[in-house]
Order: sequence, then structure tokens, then C-alpha cells
Amino acid sequence: MEVYNHDLVILGSGLAGLRAALEASQQSKGELDIALVSKLQLMRAHSVAAEGGTAAVMRQDEGDNYELHAWDTVKGSDFLADQNVVEFFVNEMPREILHLDHWGIPWSRREDGRIAQRPFGGHTYPRAVFAADKTGLLEMQTLYDTLMKHTNKLNRYDEVFVTSILIEDGKFEGLTALDMINGKYVLIRGKALILATGGAGQIFGFTTYSETVTGDGLAMAYRAGLPLKDMEFVQFHPTGLIPSGILMTEACRGEGGYLLNNKGERFMEKYAAGAMELAPRDMVSRSEMTEIEAGRGFAGPEGLDYMHLDLRHLGRDKILERLPLIREVTMKHIGLDPIEKPIPIRAVAHYSMGGVHTDIKGHTPLENVWAAGEVACVSLHGANRLGANSTAECLVWGRVTGGEAARYCAANSLDKKISIQAEQEWGKMEALISSMGKEDHYKIRKELRKTLDKNMGVFRTGQEMQTGLDKIRKLKERYKHISLKDKGLRYNTDLIRAVETGFMLDVAEVATLGGLTRTESRGGHARRDFAARDDENWLKHTMAHYTEEGPRLDYIPVDISMWKPVERKY
Ligand code: FUM
Repeated sequence: MEVYNHDLVILGSGLAGLRAALEASQQSKGELDIALVSKLQLMRAHSVAAEGGTAAVMRQDEGDNYELHAWDTVKGSDFLADQNVVEFFVNEMPREILHLDHWGIPWSRREDGRIAQRPFGGHTYPRAVFAADKTGLLEMQTLYDTLMKHTNKLNRYDEVFVTSILIEDGKFEGLTALDMINGKYVLIRGKALILATGGAGQIFGFTTYSETVTGDGLAMAYRAGLPLKDMEFVQFHPTGLIPSGILMTEACRGEGGYLLNNKGERFMEKYAAGAMELAPRDMVSRSEMTEIEAGRGFAGPEGLDYMHLDLRHLGRDKILERLPLIREVTMKHIGLDPIEKPIPIRAVAHYSMGGVHTDIKGHTPLENVWAAGEVACVSLHGANRLGANSTAECLVWGRVTGGEAARYCAANSLDKKISIQAEQEWGKMEALISSMGKEDHYKIRKELRKTLDKNMGVFRTGQEMQTGLDKIRKLKERYKHISLKDKGLRYNTDLIRAVETGFMLDVAEVATLGGLTRTESRGGHARRDFAARDDENWLKHTMAHYTEEGPRLDYIPVDISMWKPVERKY
């Protein structure tokens, strides 16, 4: 085993991880020794797939304001967002847009040269700053280039697959990892850890997420004793391409695209006459499913009945200027040109509102561990996130956690003593590699994803979720008896997929149990058997704690210091 010692360890090299590394570097004048660890090559983090925009109040002179952004976010969250967190966020965001601007990002611009903004669902003002429909990619590139200017001590651990977070005496000690390229076990130690590993979209079969988004950070944090908060709240984005699920950005509708049923009707008129296609995602997704269930969808492959996303009236020039990626993707993947034909889409698993519990500064309950971005649940999004608030969250809490952790590192030293836990973890990996079990972990993953699609979808019932939970628990039992075909360590994707599937099972169990226990409907959690929101009993955050027997749930209050919950109408 090789041991590496650093000041700050950042796990995940997406938007939140890069923003954290940049802030920590700037604060230390480039002298903080940072480990940036990822199972991917740099620039392959899922953040590059973010398309439509990043929300911020940039036009106070033209009518937008912080209170409006805060209200939209709180109402969008179905009142489960912590309002102090929302207030902090909206105030911080414009500065992040301007930082990126000064660092050279090619934001799309208006005729008058000011940064352009487009409408997004649930925002009552056109608030999404964007770079065509490649916003995440360009934000990532800008952050990485700028990081290179500000750091003298960045250590990249690309394609290093982390298997566990070691905690010793109540503090982060290090990460155990497999260096995929060299096939070596490594221990990456640090004074502090920032978790920035993103979500767990791959627990669903039909998802916008890359193959790699398997909830690793969530599961490792949970197993290490950190509570997962509000994991039952999963966002379904209304426009996933049929049949792959690739994201057709909300910017399609922000730029004026329509959603049509098989009668050619803009069906959103029935469900949200004010906001139409730009109602919040939970509502649009439910409306689509209601139309499909009523027979007003189009027949699709493998039960993926769909609706139409129609951009034709936007015209060729606008599509080429504002939505070039959408056109490229539809042409390459399904041979369809959206200038000429409507795009087949349906609601698709897109985002986890829940995550590792943190306070307003992204600090977890462990002294030297912070979390930022989708892996974290700072309680900004509550039960339903507004589009364009996610890349924004990565920027704000990347910066905040980078600064906090850098300060911690400056004031603390690295523990010299190395615990025996790393050796034990490698013992587990060795056992997995040599096991002769009869179960196929690829099949288990496939069944898990089908189970989530079926039982934790846009609409849920107690019976479905119970069936789903029983199935997940059976799959967990079967997982104990898997075996691997590849017995080596170099680039052993068989091993990596197997470990990921173990992570996915834990995350799926927490989400499903949380949903089954929450007997109300709120935001992305829509139960047919408890159709109303129940503020009296359920205006609270779910906290899931790891135990050997399965998750133990308890609850903490929501901050409602600005607005009392009211009915959501759009
Ligand atoms: O539709 C989109 O471009 C997605 C944005 C988001 O999830 O915030």
C-alpha cells in the first residue's frame, strides 16, 4: 500500500470540487497542498453535462431582486428548503457569475453586451445565465484554467477509485483507493476532506446521468457515519430524450419550446396555466405522466411512452445559436433534426435533492469534513429543486467549503499515526476479488435500476415502495454472493462496477425507506395514497443513519424564518 499525505483532500473533480480547490488555493496563495481525487479523467465529471444555465440575480435595474429569487426557490422547494440557506445563496450567487466572467468564461451575451439570461422553470424572472447549451462544460474549463494559475501544489489523482472514507477518533483520516492505472492500493491522507462526488442518478434505469454517477460519495459518507438527509426527494426532469434519457435542456422551453400531447395540445394549460411549460419540474413531470396515463402520449419503446418537445417555431437561427448541443445530440442519437420535427421526450430521473447533511457552511457533523454540490444536502432545494440552481449551488458551496477547509488546514496538523483500517479495507477488496459466489453483480445492478424506475417514479404508492424496498433488500442479500471474473487489479472495471453497485444498493435503500415512511406528497415525492402535503406532520427533514440492520431514520426541523408554507400555484 502506498501512502500519500496532503493538507486538503477533495474527492470529486466536478464543478463543486474545482471551485473548492480554486478557493482554497487562492486563500493560501497557492501554497496549500491539495489532493484532487477522481475515479475519472479530469473534465469527464458529470458537471460537463450541465446544459441550460446557472441562476443568479443580475438585473436589479431591470426588475429582478434577491427576495424574488429566494421566494421562487422556497416555493419551488414546496417549503422544505431551509430559508436561511436560500437567503445566503441568492446573495452570494451574482458574485460567482462575475468571477467566472472575469476569469474568461464565454457567457452568451445580449445585443447590448450585457450577460444574457434566459427563463427557466419556476423562476419568475429570466435568471439563468448561460453559455449556449454547454454551460457546465464551459464553467468547468474556466475553473480548471483559473485553478492552474492559482495553485503551486495541486496533486491530481485521476482514475483513482476510492472505496472508503476512513474515520479515526471522530475525524477524517484518509481515503482508501485503488489506483486504476497502476493497480495499486493507496491511502490518501489529509487534514481535511471536501466531498464533491455528485449524485446517484444511476440507481434509476431511465436517467440523464452518466454511467459513472453511482452515489459513491453518498454511500461512503453514510457508511462512515454521516447522516443522509431527504434522500426520498428525487427530481424527474420533464425532458429526457427517448430512448436514452439524455437531457434535453429546460432551456429548450426557456427559449420558447412547447410540450405537446398526441392531440397536438399544449397540455400544460390544464395544469399550470400561468407558467405553462415553465412550471417547476415536479409539476411538469407529473402533468406529462398524467397525460400519458390518460392515453394522450405517443407509444414508445419498452414502455417509454412519450410526449413531444416542439422547437420548430423557434426557427433555424435561434436553434443553432442557443441550442446547438440539443440539435447535435438529437441528430446523432436518433437521427432527428429539431428544426424540422418535434423531439420525443418524457420525465427522467435527473437529480437527488437529498445528500450528506451539512450546515449552512457545508460543514458535516465531522470536525474536518465538508460537502458541496449534489452530494451534499445543505437544504437549498427542499423537496424540489429549481432548474439552474444546481450549478449555482456547486459554485457557492464550492467556494464556501474551499475557504472553510483551507482555514482549518492552516490551523491544524496532520495526524502522524496511521490506523489499521486501511489494511482492513484492502482485506475486503481482496475477499471480493477472490470470492467464488454464484451471483452476477451486473444483473443485480440492472434489477436494482428497474426496481427504482418501477417503484420510486414520478408517482409513488406505499405498496409500490414497500415492494421496491423488499426487492432492494433481497438484492443486498444476493450481493453478498457475487464473484468477479477479472482477478487482477489494473484497470479492473469488473471490481469497480461491483463496488459501485454496493454503493447504489445502500443509496437506493435509504431513498426508498425515506419515501415509504413519509406519508405525504411534497415536491418530487408524489404519493397517490397520500396526495396532499401535510405540514402538520411532515414539515421536517428526514435523516438516515447507517446501521448494520439498515437505515435508522429520524427528523430535524426546517428553517421557515421568512415565509410560512402556502399552497403552490403556478
Ligand atoms: O435542463 C437543464 O439544462 C438542467 C439544468 C439543471 O438541472 O439545473
